[in-house]
Amino acid sequence: MLKIDIITVVPNLLDGPFSHSIIKRAQEKKLLQVNIINLRDYSTHKQKQVDDYPFGGGAGMVLMVEPLVNAIESLQKNTYYDDIIYMTPDAETFNQKIANQLSLQQNLLLICGHYKGIDERIRTHFITREISIGDYVLSGGELAAAVVVDAIGRLIPGVLSNETSALFDSFQDNLLAPPVYTRPATFRDWKVPDILLSGHTTKIEEWLHEQAILRTKERRPDLLEGKE
Ligand code: 6GU
Repeated sequence: MLKIDIITVVPNLLDGPFSHSIIKRAQEKKLLQVNIINLRDYSTHKQKQVDDYPFGGGAGMVLMVEPLVNAIESLQKNTYYDDIIYMTPDAETFNQKIANQLSLQQNLLLICGHYKGIDERIRTHFITREISIGDYVLSGGELAAAVVVDAIGRLIPGVLSNETSALFDSFQDNLLAPPVYTRPATFRDWKVPDILLSGHTTKIEEWLHEQAILRTKERRPDLLEGKE
């Protein structure tokens, strides 16, 4: 069982992403547990304040150190976290290799920034890993956290019905996935490649591998250069 706790100031943003399809089933099968924690529940302020103006000025608000420490330390009373991850654009870019690593952990804590980010002292004293999902800026870490949980969750053994199917994902071996087709074999004059209808399992596998390489050369040659 992989448990993922997520601290956020916009818990509603995370209502949808884990309630459907594969990630929903992973939770039903008790292979994955996702808990959303509202940072406001850990504010000691009258108005449940969790953000404040940045010292030194500048635009935007910063999530305050105190509610975050309260939330993290309260959660740590019940759970030893393998990683406490801050979702932020100024970090290492998420990829399939990181997803594979994280899917092997027991307990993860994801912290979503909002506004300008979180007080740097949280990063210094609690955060063990920082993850960005790409070179663009989102208004908060929540959608990024949803992406990370989805990518990790489907890799947990037993989550995908056909357990081998993650093996053929794009990126799993630095190759993009080959094209796929389903019935009908002919639609208008668009034909499914004959080889896929031939029943020659070995030939089909060879063809799919070739297609994967061709596709990777065309679309993501950088993946092939990085290949060991
Ligand atoms: Cl993790 N957070 C935010 N706010 N923006 C992002 C991101 C994360 N990853 C890419 N852009």
